[in-house]
Order: sequence, then structure tokens, then C-alpha cells
Amino acid sequence: MKSLSNVNSLPNALIELQELFSLSVQDMWKIAQDFKTSMVYGLKPVNQKKSDSIAFGSLKMLDSFINRPTGKETGIYLAIDFGGTNIRVVPIKLNGRRSKNPIQPLVGYKVPLKVEGEYDYTVKTVSGPELFDFIVKGLCRQLIQPNKSYYLGHTFSFPCKQESLNDATLINWTKGFQNKKTVDKNINRLLSEALERKGLKNVKPVVILNDTVATLLTEAYADPYTDMGSIIGTGHNTSYIEAKKGIINIESGNFNLLPFTKYDYDLDKATENPEKQRLEKMVGGKYLGELIRLIIVDFAERGFLFGDHDLTKFKFPLTPNCVSTENISNLLVENDPMIPTKPIGPLGEGLCGEEIAAVLSITRTVNNRAARLIASTFLGIVSHIDPNFENQHTIAVDGSVYCQMLGFAQSIQQAIDNALNGRQCKVTLRQSLDGSVKGAAIAAAIAVTK
Ligand code: GLC
Repeated sequence: MKSLSNVNSLPNALIELQELFSLSVQDMWKIAQDFKTSMVYGLKPVNQKKSDSIAFGSLKMLDSFINRPTGKETGIYLAIDFGGTNIRVVPIKLNGRRSKNPIQPLVGYKVPLKVEGEYDYTVKTVSGPELFDFIVKGLCRQLIQPNKSYYLGHTFSFPCKQESLNDATLINWTKGFQNKKTVDKNINRLLSEALERKGLKNVKPVVILNDTVATLLTEAYADPYTDMGSIIGTGHNTSYIEAKKGIINIESGNFNLLPFTKYDYDLDKATENPEKQRLEKMVGGKYLGELIRLIIVDFAERGFLFGDHDLTKFKFPLTPNCVSTENISNLLVENDPMIPTKPIGPLGEGLCGEEIAAVLSITRTVNNRAARLIASTFLGIVSHIDPNFENQHTIAVDGSVYCQMLGFAQSIQQAIDNALNGRQCKVTLRQSLDGSVKGAAIAAAIAVTK
């Protein structure tokens, strides 16, 4: 585990931090290779050596029982998207790949899972039925006509063991969720029972899927080269099309063959799921702010930030998890961070101009590593599905970090292009806005026409 040496000044500490967080093209290929080995291992976990399981056993490689859409799926379907931050319920009209507007979301409903001081559906005490009653509440407010029938696709963005298209059991929560009572429960049964309680007999759930799978389906509906789908938001994960099998949800956020620093270690230790989701904790929006805060605390303790001020005088930086992804992305777009025009939250508190510039540099360092780590896993997937690097691939991506963090999307694309230098294959990232909700409707259409 790497950490800063006894550097003697702020500029030197910033340079050393960059080195600590840097990933050369060679480092990226090493991660890609380990990722690929772990994918292959995860595809056939039976009868493998125990030592391999310790080294390469971090990827769940979950079957989704669905494959690429034809683009000819049409009709109106209901989509529920349960991602971890909000619940969205949206009727979606599919018009076919050749239409001017292939996927058309209609008026929908969105509600956060927690509102400070009001309610919180992510905590331990909330039971499965309570959570799902809250989820289906949105449906009642929808334009559901009582005399019509609706098929429903349900994007549920947590690791699930699937037995069929519409039968998924929660393996474990991620992204800070703690409703332990729901683990090992059949998610679709919880949803159906909640619909029954609400008397919504005309709504029939037909499919349950991961958000990365949904995002893949959304772009594949119109682009035949799409063979991967990824979310880079609160959490991070990727799925891809495995030849002869269909779409596999890798649960790549749990990948753990990575160059950890002391900051990663400290962050992990303080979470509710230590040693799990190690990649996610280096790249996901839930964690980037905290990683930056931990570095700032280290710099402050070394006397490089906050001048002579007593740290305990500030709410920041000693309050865990007080830096949001929004604060970071707002800081990145400021022309003059000393006169912020958007809320940068605690990131400016107690710091002078030179120090804010240092925080900006720390932020860029952390983001850049995140982008290169994700790029490395994408390369690992490409090397598995296209070992000679000959073909064209589109990766559909959605999520707040990818869509809103200045420079993040470009950094991933650049890192991939650099690493692929000279190879014939072309890997293109494509933003898939609302991919996880649209894909639920496509999956529902596939399910009912099967
Ligand atoms: C977490 C979940 C995963 C999901 C990802 C993005 O990693 O475990 O299922 O796809 O977050 O939302």
C-alpha cells in the first residue's frame, strides 16, 4: 500500500500525490489483464483452485437472461428505475429503431429515497415491504388507466442472482444501503406483493434487470455496435454481451486487484462494507468526495493546508462524507475558485487562494486516476470479447459522474485511445441519457415478445 513520503512543501506534496495516483499505459494493461482473468474465472466458478479464488474471485459475472434487442420492439411500457438515489417511474413509448424518435419517455415521476430530516428508505430499520410500498407509490400518481393493462420493466441496480428474466434474489446491498432484511429476498415477489397491496392488478411486472444492462439495451436498440453498458454515478458497474450467453452483469465495482493507497485503505475501513466494492470506492460518486477529503486532512496534518489554523475550528475537513460530488464538479468549472459562483460546499472553507488551487489539483488527480481505472476495466472486457482487437465496440454510459464531472468522459476516452494505439479495433464511449429507465421498457418489450 503506497503513501506519501516525508515531503517538505505543498508543491512537492502535490507532485508526489500525482505520482502516487498515476497509472501508466503499462499499469493500465496490467489491470486490464487481471480484470479479464477475473471475468473468465467468474464465468466458471465451479471446481477452481482456492488460491485462484482469492486472487481472481471478485467478479460475480451475473447472468441477466437477456440479449441484444432487435430494435423492432414497439409499444408503451412502464419502467421503474431503482438506482440508489432516486426512484423513477416512467411510461415509455418505443417507436422502433428506424423512427425519428426511437425511445420516447412520457411524463413520469421521480422521488428521492431520502430527504434529510424527513425520511430515509436506505436505513437498516426499513423492511422490504415498506421499501417496495414506497417504490410503487409513484405508480398510483402515474397516468395509469384502470381499464388498460401494462407490462412493467424494473431496473434494480444492485447485485442479484437471477434464475430467469423475472426472478431475481438480492445478493447484497452496495452504495451505503443497509436494509439487511431484504438481502436474500426475491425482489420481484416484493414488487408484485406491493402492487397487489395497492390494488394495481392491471400492472404486470415482466422483467427485472441491472442498470448497466438497461443502459446497454438502450444504446443497442439503435446502434448494433453497442456491446457494453456502464454506470459511472453514485456507484460503478459494467455489463457486456458474452457470446452465446447474452448480457452478463459483471458487478465490476467489486474488482479488487488494484493499486491501493493509504487513502483508499482508510476510506474503505470506515465504510459499512469494508473490503467490498474496492473499485467502486475509487471511482464512484458516493466516494470521490470522501477520498479528496481524506487527502486534504493528511495535507493539513502535515501543515500544508489551512495555514496555522486549528483544524478543529472548522466543520470541514474533519466531518466524514461532507464533500459531495456536486461540490467537486462545481469546483472544477469555476474560473476563479476564490470567488465561486456555484456552491462548492466545505471545499472553500478556511482556505486561501493558493490552498484552493491545491484542492483543485488534488481533485484532478483523484478524478484522473478514477477515469484511467475505469478505462482499464473497459480494456479488460474488450480483450475478453475481441482478443485480437479487430472490431468496433460502443460502450453505453450513464451516471452523474460521467455526465456531469468536467473532463471525466474525455479522460476515459483518451486513456482508451492511448492504450489501444496501433490496434485496429475502435472503442467508442457514448453517453446514454436516462439509459437505465429506457432500457427497462426495452427489456419489458423483449420479455413479452419472447
Ligand atoms: C453498484 C451496484 C450495481 C450497479 C452500480 C451502478 O455497484 O452493485 O449493481 O450497477 O452500483 O448503479
